[in-house]
Amino acid sequence: MELNGTYRSIQDDLSQVKESLRSIIKVDFPWLSEQLDYVIGSGGKGIRPALTLLSGKFYQYNLEYLLPMAVSVELMHTATLIHDDAIDKSMARRGRATIFKLWGEEPAILLGDYLFAKAGEFVSDTQNPRVIKLFSQTLATISSGELNQFFSAYNLQQTREQYFKKIFGKTASLFSLATESGAILSGAPEKSVKILRDYGHSLGIAFQVVDDILDFIGTEEELGKPVGSDLAQGTLTLPAMLLLERCPEDNPVKRLFDNRNDQDNIKQAIEMIRNSPIVDECYTVASEYCAQACQNINQLPANSSRDALLQLAEYVVARKR
Ligand code: IPE
Ligand code: IPE
Ligand code: MG
Ligand code: MG
Repeated sequence: MELNGTYRSIQDDLSQVKESLRSIIKVDFPWLSEQLDYVIGSGGKGIRPALTLLSGKFYQYNLEYLLPMAVSVELMHTATLIHDDAIDKSMARRGRATIFKLWGEEPAILLGDYLFAKAGEFVSDTQNPRVIKLFSQTLATISSGELNQFFSAYNLQQTREQYFKKIFGKTASLFSLATESGAILSGAPEKSVKILRDYGHSLGIAFQVVDDILDFIGTEEELGKPVGSDLAQGTLTLPAMLLLERCPEDNPVKRLFDNRNDQDNIKQAIEMIRNSPIVDECYTVASEYCAQACQNINQLPANSSRDALLQLAEYVVARKR
């Protein structure tokens, strides 16, 4: 399942988003310009800007404001990835070397900061204090989610509730910003703003649950980033939680978290999860969040964007990268 068909109604506008993104590459500092070219041109799936544009299609589709918002969410996303790779000491992203691998921690943090600042500049072009405030609140929520993950590493005593709170922070909050801001900037009535915000929230949770599944069952070739890295980081995600619940006594995740960084335990945990119903159970959870995401979408005006949002929910569980 690919995204091109889903994006059809906003294809030309997404090209404009790309063009605007590329406009930030031109700076009078060759190193910076080269790195910006590298990270902007590396081809992510563009889900967040697509969500903003699609969410803006139900009332007044005003590109003057929706475009900078879409650019802003993609820049914020790119910045979080650069920081995330530095925190995780990850070597590959989108099938290429990470900024962390190429340049180390400090340039990665500073380049991420640069992109956050640029994201702020674009969001201010919306001239809408409400979305500007939401942007800042979301950035705080993401940072708090990543801090939460950092400080709960190697902790076996984590509840489902804590897991969903964490993935809301690090991922779903930005999905929700993408959809809510699109709604606000198109002058949607409050009821529709809420429907689109909730859609983004649930879709984002499902997206991260699937990301956490793919970390166990995907391949680096398909994903463009390392697999098995959550356990290696001591990050307890849903599949590993289910494995702990299933075999609480002699469990490779327990041994790994007690002894840290033991390749054999990582391998064994991956094998056990792959060969158990856990993968299906996690996909069921993701599907439930997608169903929840779509539950009120039919209250929005019927148009091709509404269909695209429904398709996107299908894509999130079917995706392989
Ligand atoms: C990766 O997001 C980070 C997560 C929230 C899991 P995407 O999978 O949307 O990344 P790109 O932009 O397509 O590379
Ligand atoms: C998402 O979590 C990271 C951010 C939202 C910054 P992951 O750590 O699972 O993302 P990947 O797997 O590295 O893309
Ligand atoms: Mg990561
Ligand atoms: Mg991941």
